Amino acid sequence: MFAARQTLNQASRRCFSASARQASKVTVLGAAGGIGQPLSLLLKLNPRVSQLALYDIRLAPGVAADIGHINTKSEVIGYDATPSALAAALKGSEIVLIPAGVPRKPGMTRDDLFNTNASIVRDLAKAVADHAPEANVLIISNPVNSTVPITAEIFKSKGVYNPKRLFGVTTLDVVRASRFISQLRKTDPANENITVIGGHSGATIVPLLSQSGFNLTGDQLAEYVRRVQFGGDEVVQAKDGAGSATLSMAMAGARFAESLLKAAQGQKNVIEPTFVDSPLYKDQGCEYFSSNVELGPNGVEKIHPVGKITDYEQELLDVCLADLSKNIQKGVEWVKANP
Ligand code: NAD
Ligand code: LMR
Repeated sequence: MFAARQTLNQASRRCFSASARQASKVTVLGAAGGIGQPLSLLLKLNPRVSQLALYDIRLAPGVAADIGHINTKSEVIGYDATPSALAAALKGSEIVLIPAGVPRKPGMTRDDLFNTNASIVRDLAKAVADHAPEANVLIISNPVNSTVPITAEIFKSKGVYNPKRLFGVTTLDVVRASRFISQLRKTDPANENITVIGGHSGATIVPLLSQSGFNLTGDQLAEYVRRVQFGGDEVVQAKDGAGSATLSMAMAGARFAESLLKAAQGQKNVIEPTFVDSPLYKDQGCEYFSSNVELGPNGVEKIHPVGKITDYEQELLDVCLADLSKNIQKGVEWVKANP
């Protein structure tokens, strides 16, 4: 038997009478980390979540015991690091979020994390394929541009790949793009929703400011784009060796999970940017691409086209596609060599 410890608010479980449609099990793999802990906290506060399964190679039962005391209805279970516990954490899950892996230190690119995180994501993807093949899988671990293709290749090799249910989480780029423009233009960031396309690292992050009616020019536009593309580095430098964005990422991951749950529970017109198997730039070597995606009960409902962009944004997109195709290919090739 797996060694799982359970933290359960019995009283709230007795009172909880969610319909099967609303009963959503969500699993976090890497739940004790810098992102995993606040992400799990935010998921515990979400009334759409009925069960929260927390798995990590360390400390997950402790995190679950702590979060499980919060007086919301969901049941929280923390799992020890054994294969059978991982299987139990995944079984019946509707959404699996994966923030497991190492973060950057100053001077590193996200691609520098590849050697360590590729095998972590591969092994967790195998477990998801075996125990939760129908779940929506949300990849947070970097480099997202490569870890999403790695996950897809593992699912394909196990015959369970569903392109509608695999998502690279790029929400943080949109959160930043919206916050940064509001700082420049003194608007309410809650009302901003800047479209960001491409991938999730440096030049592959392409904000489309023109589509939101803003007209920055010259140095101001270049500086804005640079800040969105390298927002992650701002945090890495400020944390000075202690990791990368965790709290803003937890918010972004929780927002994306909430959108998927809303869509699964019947809400229409739920649109989030996300890095998915996409037809948009396949002919340019990018099998995966982030753009606005309408979510539905089956995951991806509709991939929105990029739409009208300026010449400047087209130049950014050209650079993005060249980098992104290499990142994607690197992930695919790595799985072939390290199945
Ligand atoms: P962290 O080191 O604080 O936490 C990572 C957690 O993963 C740790 O608790 C660790 O024990 C766990 N872990 C490692 N191997 C595991 C395994 N095989 N199974 C289960 N758990 C395992 O790091 P963090 O700050 O939380 O960042 C995690 C990842 O998320 C990094 O790769 C980081 O680059 C990435 N990230 C992505 C985004 C994004 O926008 N997609 C934003 C921020 C960070
Ligand atoms: C981010 O955008 O903050 C994350 O991808 C973490 C990082 O390495 O910058």
